[in-house]
Amino acid sequence: MANSPSGDSVTDRLLRVLETFTPTRTAQTAAEIGRRAGLPPSSAHRIVSELVAAGLLERDDDRRIRIGMRLWELATRSSHALRMRQAAMPAMERVQSRIREHTQLAILEQDEALFLERLSGPGAGSNVTRVAGRLPLHASSSGLVLLAYGPPDLQNRILSGPLPAFTRETITDPSALRRKLAEVRLIGHAVARGSIELVSTGVAVPVRDETGRVVAALSVVLPREAAVEAALIELHAGKRDIEQSLGYRG
Ligand code: PHB
Repeated sequence: MANSPSGDSVTDRLLRVLETFTPTRTAQTAAEIGRRAGLPPSSAHRIVSELVAAGLLERDDDRRIRIGMRLWELATRSSHALRMRQAAMPAMERVQSRIREHTQLAILEQDEALFLERLSGPGAGSNVTRVAGRLPLHASSSGLVLLAYGPPDLQNRILSGPLPAFTRETITDPSALRRKLAEVRLIGHAVARGSIELVSTGVAVPVRDETGRVVAALSVVLPREAAVEAALIELHAGKRDIEQSLGYRG
């Protein structure tokens, strides 16, 4: 791709523009986008206008810029995430109807847990997870499962730190994390009490595809002191259903 005078490619600049959008920052002016993307105002305006013309970004009634539906459409069409979510949805709804807190599905993406879906009951407790949002591997139940069954190079990278603390319960010591991962593999699930936020406990199980590889984590988020046994029974039943629909015959 053609490079700008500063040497970054068109793709780099497009990505920087798109990455200025976050779950909590969904509308911005072109000037704000330019500043956050580190682009000169003229380039920012040009790129934003081109993306708006292509439908990848949209201008709302206040002339603020948002992610366009066309981008959602293209990203969702035939995506791996959509297939995984569809395979998991019936089981997730079953878990949710019984546990009535939060039920979620995560995959490993660039050293973090990326959440494809979250179902939440009306009176459910606190939960920091967002759909299309990420949580750190060492500090969430889903992340611990994805890490425990992940490739050795991933484990080495995460274990070599840093392991930032989100609460006083977050595992920040590499040897403690190594022991926790061994425990997850031994018992087949992860319980993370208060690790990402003190008031909640995450419980997660691994989900395998037809090759036997762990490709996702199915989890529930409960109030911190809730018993986890009922959730574990539902999660294990749910994961078996998802694995069956993914073709795992283990
Ligand atoms: C977890 O998976 O450990 C988890 C996720 C979100 C929360 C709390 C715990 O809000």
